[in-house]
Amino acid sequence: MNYFEYKNGELYAEDVRVKELVQEYGTPLYIYSAKTLRRHFTAFDSAFEGINHLICYSVKANSNLCVLDLLKKEGSGADIVSGGELFRALRVGIEPQKIVYSGVGKSEAEISEALFAGILMFNVESEQELERISKVASNLNFEARVSLRINPDVDPKTHPYVATGLKKSKFGIPMNKALATYILARDLPAITPVGIDCHIGSQLTTIEPFLESIERLKDLYNQLAEKNIHIKYLDIGGGLGITYKEEEPPHPREFGLALQKALHGTDITLILEPGRVIAGNAGILVTQVEYTKQGSAKDFVIIDAAMNDLLRPSLYGSFHRIAEVEPKGRPVKTVDVVGPVCESGDFLAQDRELPQVESGELLAIHSTGAYGFSMSSQYNSRTRAAEILVDGETARIVRKREQYQTLIALEEGCLKR
Ligand code: LLP
Repeated sequence: MNYFEYKNGELYAEDVRVKELVQEYGTPLYIYSAKTLRRHFTAFDSAFEGINHLICYSVKANSNLCVLDLLKKEGSGADIVSGGELFRALRVGIEPQKIVYSGVGKSEAEISEALFAGILMFNVESEQELERISKVASNLNFEARVSLRINPDVDPKTHPYVATGLKKSKFGIPMNKALATYILARDLPAITPVGIDCHIGSQLTTIEPFLESIERLKDLYNQLAEKNIHIKYLDIGGGLGITYKEEEPPHPREFGLALQKALHGTDITLILEPGRVIAGNAGILVTQVEYTKQGSAKDFVIIDAAMNDLLRPSLYGSFHRIAEVEPKGRPVKTVDVVGPVCESGDFLAQDRELPQVESGELLAIHSTGAYGFSMSSQYNSRTRAAEILVDGETARIVRKREQYQTLIALEEGCLKR
């Protein structure tokens, strides 16, 4: 459910005409709906009403400061994976006690920044990382709370690039090493193990893999209790999928009930790190058609957004619905929707049935609120798109369009020699 709907024959973002936003801010343009973000957060949060829990929104999905600020106001914490994401989360005032720090390659500098901030815990991915956190925390005279990210070896049945909980994955600590690593954590100076963590993948469309992971982690929880290691938090990561095309992922309510049932009888605090399910369908990318072109084997619609603006189709072959901002009821044609970047992999859709659009028309690329702007780049020296946050009748620019000057600002010094 989202608030990008047609009224009087044209697309609206909540109560604002998309066309009007384009007239003011140009294209390509990311537009987010505040109402949708709030609705998704509330649906997710209330699904866990019956259990002690903390929602740590996964900042990587959409790290715009105003999006983070909105979610903070809804009560969200943050799941971060870099010093930069910590900086963003603190900048909007997310309470450090609601921040968990994931990721396989935390640097010493990043670890000390997180210790100074007083985050809730590090989700530790290896023995070496544990030793590094112990060293940094000892030197600074801090006590670091940690959970170990366990790789439960569960198949999330999703795209291989976003499956993280399989044996061959770089993520987490293998189950058969878990107990020994917890004992190491208990014995190392300046470390307190407080949690068990896992994140098995993204865009999961069934609950079973989550439940399978929980069963495995519950066994570990009991083994740890026998060793006098008392675990307070179970962090089950993110990963709940959304509808891009015809997927039918479980509703958060169903997901929440199933997880609560699986944890019945424990006094664990559940941590969840949703990203996509909060932001994915809360954003669109609006683009203008530059040209249409008939190739010898295919027809192309060339738009002003490209793989640098939205990488998902090129990287994962992902599907994003593309629709006219002002539908005109014309017959459809099978086309590739491509951008101006000099790569054959620069496409937003392949072999897609699209009405016969013309140069100058606007298209909306849907479900781009998560992993859209946050994965964008300046490849081909393209300035990054502007971002707009709509709330009812109000539209705010929450990131200005980059200028040519933005592209060279950090390089100009090299010309002064
Ligand atoms: N927690 C951890 C430790 C993660 O690595 C991720 C995502 C999340 C939470 C949030 O997962 P979500 O709820 O959004 O599924 N760029 C890819 C997705 C990569 C996900 C990486 N980790 C895409 O565009 O599909």
